[in-house]
Amino acid sequence: MRKPVICSLAIAWGATALPQAFSNSGPSTGGTGPYAPANYTTDPALLSHTLYLPKTPTTKLPILIWGEGGCQANGLQFLSFLTQIASHGIAVIASGPPGGTGTTTAALLTAAIDWATSAAAAAKHPSLDPSRIAVAGQSCGGVEAYAVANDTRVSVVGIFNSGLMTPAESRRVVPGIKKPIFYFLGGSGDIAYENGERDFDLLPSGTPSWKGNLPVGHGGTYRDTDGGKFGVAAVRFLQWTLRGNLTAASFFTGQEAVQAGWAVEARNLDAITVTAI
Ligand SMILES: *[C@@H]1O[C@H](CO)[C@@H](O)[C@H](O)[C@H]1NC(C)=O
Ligand SMILES: *[C@@H]1O[C@H](CO)[C@@H](O)[C@H](O)[C@H]1NC(C)=O
Ligand SMILES: *[C@@H]1O[C@H](CO)[C@@H](O)[C@H](O)[C@H]1NC(C)=O
Repeated sequence: MRKPVICSLAIAWGATALPQAFSNSGPSTGGTGPYAPANYTTDPALLSHTLYLPKTPTTKLPILIWGEGGCQANGLQFLSFLTQIASHGIAVIASGPPGGTGTTTAALLTAAIDWATSAAAAAKHPSLDPSRIAVAGQSCGGVEAYAVANDTRVSVVGIFNSGLMTPAESRRVVPGIKKPIFYFLGGSGDIAYENGERDFDLLPSGTPSWKGNLPVGHGGTYRDTDGGKFGVAAVRFLQWTLRGNLTAASFFTGQEAVQAGWAVEARNLDAITVTAI
């Protein structure tokens, strides 16, 4: 009986927190990364999702599996943010078709992983690298990301303006997390602030973890050009943990995030070792 309650709370949270205008996060520039321009597309074998790719991938593409805010099934809700990520050499598979309606579940994240690791996807998109998969999501989508964090095909987890809904749920799930996990929260004005803080405190001390708070509230900076400061931080996170880029790592291990305004806590980041692409 516990699951449906959590699920409906999570949906209510996302739905009340995010104004309708959050859908379709403004036009995208195609991103500013070395593999720009990126854009979104769809695949007939993945009609409940939106795929973000560099237009001409000249590099291997690790994969971000993304759960939408409010668990709203619109794959364009984070258009500029996700395009920016794709332009840096990360394929993104977001829950929900472009402009879609209705509600997502964590099962869509698993479906995206199934597709990304399939022979059909490899044949069609030879640059995809399904040995490097992150799962992440914003608000309600972050709760979805927790639900698939144990999938052995996932190597790293990102929680954006989110945290588990109840202390009991946090105590059940979070102490079991061993994979690197990064939190991007909106400061004390973020309605998910206490949830994210509680989860971070419950992580095992050996789990490589980072938490940053930027005092902008629950909506982050996703609607800014190229996803704003959340876009910069997310790109660095994935460049490091999926592409093994140590210059990007210094955003978290050095002073760069702090200088950009993030209030930071971290544990055991030295344990993150990723072979560079
Ligand atoms: C991305 O694709 C959409 C739909 O095809 C198109 O309207 C838009 O102009 C494209 N954006 C860029 C930056 O190429
Ligand atoms: C993942 O596995 C850990 C350890 O077995 C467990 O504590 C945790 O509850 C699991 N997470 C989920 C979301 O089921
Ligand atoms: C590594 O990350 C840095 C900082 O984001 C970026 O400037 C650089 O182009 C990246 N290097 C590669 C090889 O992608």
